Amino acid sequence: MGYPVGDAGLLRLGELFPTPARVRMPCLLLYGVSGAGKSMLLEKFQRDNNALCERRSGRRPIVTAQMPPVPLVRSLYGEIIRSLDAAVSPTMRLHELECTAIAMLRHAAPRMLVIDEIQHLLCCTTRDQRAALNAIKFLANQLRISIVVAGTHESLHVMRFDPQIASRIEQIELPIWNESDDLRRFIAGYLGLLPVRRAPAAINKQFVEYLLELTDGVTGRVIDVLRRAAGQAIADRTRRVGLDQLQYVGARLPTIIGQRT
Ligand SMILES: Nc1ncnc2c1ncn2[C@@H]1O[C@H](COP(=O)(O)OP(=O)(O)O)[C@@H](O)[C@H]1O
Ligand SMILES: [Mg+2]
Repeated sequence: MGYPVGDAGLLRLGELFPTPARVRMPCLLLYGVSGAGKSMLLEKFQRDNNALCERRSGRRPIVTAQMPPVPLVRSLYGEIIRSLDAAVSPTMRLHELECTAIAMLRHAAPRMLVIDEIQHLLCCTTRDQRAALNAIKFLANQLRISIVVAGTHESLHVMRFDPQIASRIEQIELPIWNESDDLRRFIAGYLGLLPVRRAPAAINKQFVEYLLELTDGVTGRVIDVLRRAAGQAIADRTRRVGLDQLQYVGARLPTIIGQRT
């Protein structure tokens, strides 16, 4: 589902994408709470752009990896190699991993390296943090590619920790929703994809306020609650999502959340 803040993020990524190779390549941080839609946005961006590239050539305009939960440099290189569909042997030394990652990236010739879950860097010592950030910078400099990282608000601290990265990093926040026409359009758009009747009048102020109360305005939870409300609208045979269906879901939500976490 598109929405203005997400579209603005996609637009900015699209602008960075064709940046010609230069010594100091740009760096962008996409941040927001867990469930804000960061990974989904990056996935869409990658899907749209990689689709344009011929598959057989082995080239990949965008390479995406996740910062491993134990964010050591060797596991970061391992993730990058795996994201390029190659196997990593546990006996490979750091130097081998680094050479393999660089050789594979050279072959894939991306213009952008995306690293998601960058806040995992907070789980390691300052020394390992610095090593991982240096590895990212090293790759960007060697390959002259833009770096895009995504993570929670804590990522802001981690990225500012490196003066070189801090001086060139641009930040985009994917914020939580507040009551707005954008949100009403997002709700209506999503319900329009589900097998329920269109009922714009039901998406009134009370509905939106209660939805925000249930979800704290987090995109992933908004989607989840709307899907459950639509399920209820089908079960109660009204096929119409309104405050009643939302209240039904809301009354059962604590156990659902409890089960999930
Ligand atoms: N633009 C969107 N359209 C539809 N659903 C979305 C959108 N963004 C996020 N979601 C929903 O929210 C969930 C969490 O999004 P995700 O991208 O994983 O969040 P984050 O990476 O910020 O933690 C997704 O699994 C999806 O169900
Ligand atoms: Mg994510």
